Amino acid sequence: MISNFICPTEIFLGAGSLKQIKAIIQQEQFRRAMIVTDKGVLNAGLIQPIMDELAEVNCEASVFDGVEPNPTDIVVNQAFVALTNERPDLLIAVGGGSSMDTAKAIGILATNGGDIIDFRGVGKVKEPILPVIAIPTTAGTGSEVTTVTVITDTKMKLKYSVGGRNVAARWALVDPELTLTVPPHVTAATGVDALTHAIEAFTSKMSYSVTDSLAKESIRMIAENLRTAVYQGNNLEARSKMLEGSLIAGLAFNNAKLGLCHALCNPLGAHFNVPHGVANAILLPHSTRFNLPARTAKYAEVAKLMGESTEGLSLSEAAEKAVTAIERLIKDVNVPAKLSLVGVTEDFLPRMVEECADNPLVSINPRTATKDDLLQIYKNAF
Ligand SMILES: [Fe+2]
Repeated sequence: MISNFICPTEIFLGAGSLKQIKAIIQQEQFRRAMIVTDKGVLNAGLIQPIMDELAEVNCEASVFDGVEPNPTDIVVNQAFVALTNERPDLLIAVGGGSSMDTAKAIGILATNGGDIIDFRGVGKVKEPILPVIAIPTTAGTGSEVTTVTVITDTKMKLKYSVGGRNVAARWALVDPELTLTVPPHVTAATGVDALTHAIEAFTSKMSYSVTDSLAKESIRMIAENLRTAVYQGNNLEARSKMLEGSLIAGLAFNNAKLGLCHALCNPLGAHFNVPHGVANAILLPHSTRFNLPARTAKYAEVAKLMGESTEGLSLSEAAEKAVTAIERLIKDVNVPAKLSLVGVTEDFLPRMVEECADNPLVSINPRTATKDDLLQIYKNAF
């Protein structure tokens, strides 16, 4: 069997890597940048130092700070209006997955025209997008190195992805110093998203040696460092490991894909605006328990990577310990762990089943899931 691995993005990793921005701009002779971010990042003071760097190399800059969690078609259109007015030759996404996904989306529209929904699916973006420098400020989505953007359609109440070789940032500046001020609840939820990427990539039907190596290292790093990053926010080493863990989980899942948990999460974002990481935290223990029989040996390895002792246990007993480890980590970092705590009502569960049953991630999940199975998982998570 032939496997392939895609990462079109050049990555600079480590404390201080933000400083590479000047070299990139000079090398490519960019003249006019638009920074795509949210008000939280702006108010945290992370944008001004970037503006200062740009000024030093005579690159003009404007700021669009209207990004919101679970970015919608409305936000994308607003950002695209700003792009049309400012006519940048470079987009700089500063923030979590929402800022990076918004920047990718308007980068698509800038060179391909149309509406973002026109590009739903994989491979529909024919022209390379406007160049994007992705600067993550949370350790979570891995969007800085993935070839996908996830957008919520407000009319259809649908969270969908646009993917393909062209849907990638050209550069990722992965600098842990930018994550030091992220509040504990955001650190926790985004960290669980990264963990979910690593676990779903590792247990995916499409996983293979290269993605497994990345996913395993990511699981270990996140399990070892998430608690410290949440409770000692200024610990640069823990922040560094978390950002590296989310980056390599991004590389892994961009190639091995995800699974049931992410499929189950989408309706929570689309209908209830549940932060993506919180949705993962609610559903990961339940989707993992469902998947155990289909990937027993790999889940036994997940348990070990997360620090569980599996000595003397049968393979299936060891695999169960993966669920224990996941539940304990989520409890320790204090993310809401039930659907009923985030505004979902029980009568809405069947509609969410209908919406996620068509998600391609269900069909590539290691264990076949019927609609009854999906409903039962939602009920268990309720
Ligand atoms: Fe995710």
